[in-house]
Amino acid sequence: MHSKLDMNILVIHGPNLNLLGKRQPEIYGTQTLDNINQDLIQIAQNQGVTLKVFQSNQEGKIVSEIGNNIDWANGILINPAAYTHTSIAIRDALSAINLPVIEIHLSNIYEREDFRHHSYVSPIAVGVISGFGNYSYELALNAMINTLKK
Ligand code: DQA
Repeated sequence: MHSKLDMNILVIHGPNLNLLGKRQPEIYGTQTLDNINQDLIQIAQNQGVTLKVFQSNQEGKIVSEIGNNIDWANGILINPAAYTHTSIAIRDALSAINLPVIEIHLSNIYEREDFRHHSYVSPIAVGVISGFGNYSYELALNAMINTLKK
């Protein structure tokens, strides 16, 4: 038994991540989003942390989900996917709620095309984890728990 840490962590997956498993497995791996979420939920349960998981292909829905959790979440894990490189709205929503944010990428965005090298989210994140496939999420969850414990 683990004691309850009393932490609420919101996990947000951006566009096309619903296709994981089928989407360019040579880049993103063969795990489905469900597999990734199940692993995260398991880790969270073991540590007594509450997770809420959300995926959307629509920028505005991601913006709303961030704002709607202002009073619930203690921290946010986000893979903004392609919106990483384009969305001032998502960055502003994350700044607005003023909670620790960890940015996640399955692939190493810096070894890929130039347009993936810029992130609107990184400057307001506690940290960025990029390049470890589905393990990026596990690393990020542990990093967030560690950040919130401090
Ligand atoms: C991604 C990297 C982004 O550049 C891309 O648009 C994605 C996924 C990743 O997890 O590696 O959709 O965020």
